[in-house]
Amino acid sequence: MGKERIVVITGANSGIGKTAAHMFAKEGHSVVMACRDLEKSKHVQQEIKEESNNTRIDLLRLDMSSFASIRQFCTVFKEKYERLDVLVHNAAYFNHGSTYRLSPDNIELTFATNTFGPYLMTTLLLEHLKKSSDARILHASSSITKHFFDPKRQIDFDQVIGEMENVKGFSVYNMYCQSKMALILLTFKMAKEFEQYGIKVNALQINGAKMSKETLQKVTPKWRMIARIQNLFFPPPEKMAEIYVYMCTSDACKEMTGKLMNDKKEIMVRGVKKPNLLMEIKQLVGTSYYPLYADQQENQDKMWELCEEVANHR
Ligand SMILES: NC(=O)c1ccc[n+]([C@@H]2O[C@H](COP(=O)([O-])OP(=O)(O)OC[C@H]3O[C@@H](n4cnc5c(N)ncnc54)[C@H](OP(=O)(O)O)[C@@H]3O)[C@@H](O)[C@H]2O)c1
Repeated sequence: MGKERIVVITGANSGIGKTAAHMFAKEGHSVVMACRDLEKSKHVQQEIKEESNNTRIDLLRLDMSSFASIRQFCTVFKEKYERLDVLVHNAAYFNHGSTYRLSPDNIELTFATNTFGPYLMTTLLLEHLKKSSDARILHASSSITKHFFDPKRQIDFDQVIGEMENVKGFSVYNMYCQSKMALILLTFKMAKEFEQYGIKVNALQINGAKMSKETLQKVTPKWRMIARIQNLFFPPPEKMAEIYVYMCTSDACKEMTGKLMNDKKEIMVRGVKKPNLLMEIKQLVGTSYYPLYADQQENQDKMWELCEEVANHR
């Protein structure tokens, strides 16, 4: 294929997504910013156009927590574009509070936005991805999934849809952690399912990126304080955005699929079942290993089936 790719990036109005949109634009790609608030995103679109000298920066409305909005986005996208080369699932909900919230489809908001939404969007865009000769899907995961090194930790498959309303101790942090593990399970499963079409599916483990002032305003006061401290140590969003571009456009990653990459551009490998102390430390502190849980076929199949059921029946 030619050099220019058609790139859809969700949540492209702030943070890593915005920075990545800039970078894709500067490389001359056609960028579709998929954002829920068009009013505030319009300014970002304009800024990217001017700074990159690239006029092919589109802005389409997408609320990733709403199946109707995802369907609407995909219909509009398919009418406007003949194929899709790169799909970056960057948008996420992570308010880290204890407030239980439901999506318009009556699904717990974290899972609706971070897992079921991306699944539905990918399946609706599948035919367009098949038309690309170098289609790549990228999921933004998180080092929060390290909690799954605890062998007792699992996704509460029976409770992620919306049954947690009256459960004591409900926390968005916990749902966020599960939703990001779910995304890794989907990455591995989708890579196998889509191999026959030549579509590559990978994920990036994000350890941290400085949060902007706007992003800090979205989280609860407690998390804002923690995030301000983290910001002193976290790298700027450019670091992760550059890896998005690398994974989605470089020749080095052209044949890569079903992989989780870390912030050093290394492919991560699965951890071990019964680690000795040294290995336990390596798993928890380092970025070379991901939890064994993610590699278990049974978990991948369960997540895939749940996504199919939820996305097709609401
Ligand atoms: N920053 C970190 O330290 C860190 C660490 C690990 C993983 N990550 C992951 O990295 C990705 C980017 O995060 P970030 O740090 O760049 O945060 P951010 O600046 O808040 O960006 C998140 C983006 O997602 C969008 N979004 C949220 N809910 C949406 C919805 N329902 N529909 C459409 N868009 C929605 C936001 O739009 P609005 O502006 O309208 O809210 C925003 O554009 C996320 O997947 C996050 O989980 C980040």
